Amino acid sequence: MKLPVSTAPAPDAASMQCIACGRVQADPGGWYQCAACGDLLELIPPQAPSAATVQSWPALWRSRRDSRLAEDLSGVWRFRELLPHFPLAPRGIVTLREGNTPLYDLPRLARAAGVAAVWAKHQGMNPTGSFKDLGMTVAVTRAQALGAQWVACASTGNTSASMAAYAAQAGLRSLVLIPAGKIAWGKLAQSLDYGALTCQLDTDFDGCVRILRELVRRAPVYVVNSINPYRVEGQKIMAAEILEQMAWQSPDHILIPGGNLANSSALGKGWLELAALGLAAKIPRISIVQAEGASPLVDCWRDWKGEKLQPRPARTLATAIQIGNPASWKKAVRVLRSTGGECLAVNEMEIAQAKAEIGRQGIGCEPASAVTWAGAKKLIHSGWIQPGQSVMLILTGHTLKDAEYILGFHRGEIPGPESGSQAALAGLRHPPRQLPATVEAVAAALETAGRP
Ligand SMILES: Cc1ncc(COP(=O)(O)O)c(C=O)c1O
Repeated sequence: MKLPVSTAPAPDAASMQCIACGRVQADPGGWYQCAACGDLLELIPPQAPSAATVQSWPALWRSRRDSRLAEDLSGVWRFRELLPHFPLAPRGIVTLREGNTPLYDLPRLARAAGVAAVWAKHQGMNPTGSFKDLGMTVAVTRAQALGAQWVACASTGNTSASMAAYAAQAGLRSLVLIPAGKIAWGKLAQSLDYGALTCQLDTDFDGCVRILRELVRRAPVYVVNSINPYRVEGQKIMAAEILEQMAWQSPDHILIPGGNLANSSALGKGWLELAALGLAAKIPRISIVQAEGASPLVDCWRDWKGEKLQPRPARTLATAIQIGNPASWKKAVRVLRSTGGECLAVNEMEIAQAKAEIGRQGIGCEPASAVTWAGAKKLIHSGWIQPGQSVMLILTGHTLKDAEYILGFHRGEIPGPESGSQAALAGLRHPPRQLPATVEAVAAALETAGRP
């Protein structure tokens, strides 16, 4: 198959730097790895203007919310001074009005846990229902600027949904590699709806990555997995958005789920860059939470002091983070070190309970997002997060992404009996009642539900 696309290094590209050997290089395209040592690349932030200009940015960014231009309505491109500069294709940016997501105050959770405040930044309120849209708008804009015709990714479901949508918006073709039977149906349905060539492979996510890596050598597809540094640039804008919503004050702690570890890396990169610009007075402790059955970073942090990561098979019902060989682990370790964060795992029971508790706040989230609340409760319990402190949870995916999990939970099937005692879940499950179609039956149900 001949797929015309430009894969040559683009002379216009912003400079990239290897995270391991520090070599500065032009955009290599392809698998986005260092030409010298093969490690990950990241974009070097644009040269900062004068302090006075930087101080004028918050007002400029706020004023763009009143504009009708696509680049101002996007919650990513609204902060474009923080993004890499590259010449756009004549059609301009590829946007679905991503970002500008809500920040919720959750006082009942704060009271129950005994901390000053709990907030949730809900990235599941993005156009395709996950945080991936923040990065995808930049990566697909870059693909279009390079003249790509095909974009491709390996995915646990949300990257593929997002990529397929942005590719469709740009008029590009998209190729999705997903592990058969291991992603939530809602996400698979999205990539079909948006017209992607969707390949279910008989392997896991890490196996899909291996195949994509090989494919890139043979077929000129533009890879938009998070090894693509443009993805990370878009996702780092979450830090600016949170700071703006918090009147440029930082919470004490941020908890974020960890799978392939790009989002935590992006959040840390964003916060550190904003601090270097003088726009964030304080850097919150950014802690990464993984599911117990998919926690190679926790092992790396605890057993190897962040120096080595041992890939391992991954197994969790939080399928979005079912990843055993995370690509961006070195970047994530850097974030843990530079912000003083913690890295911890939570089990399936803790995830299910946390997810139900977030649901009861009326906002809901994906199982993978709920690890943040489960992790926060553990850190509060251990005293690592203290009573007077504030906590922000990054909720990464919309609750409807995985409706099967919710139904299974309320039916009493999730988590399974192998996960241990279900006592903590009592009172959180409320399956639908099957009743005769009579007023009496419904009134009786109402009465019993009202009893303490
Ligand atoms: C809903 C959700 N949460 C968290 C993650 C983990 O993000 P990352 O792989 O960047 O660590 C993913 C990744 O697919 C996800 O889809």
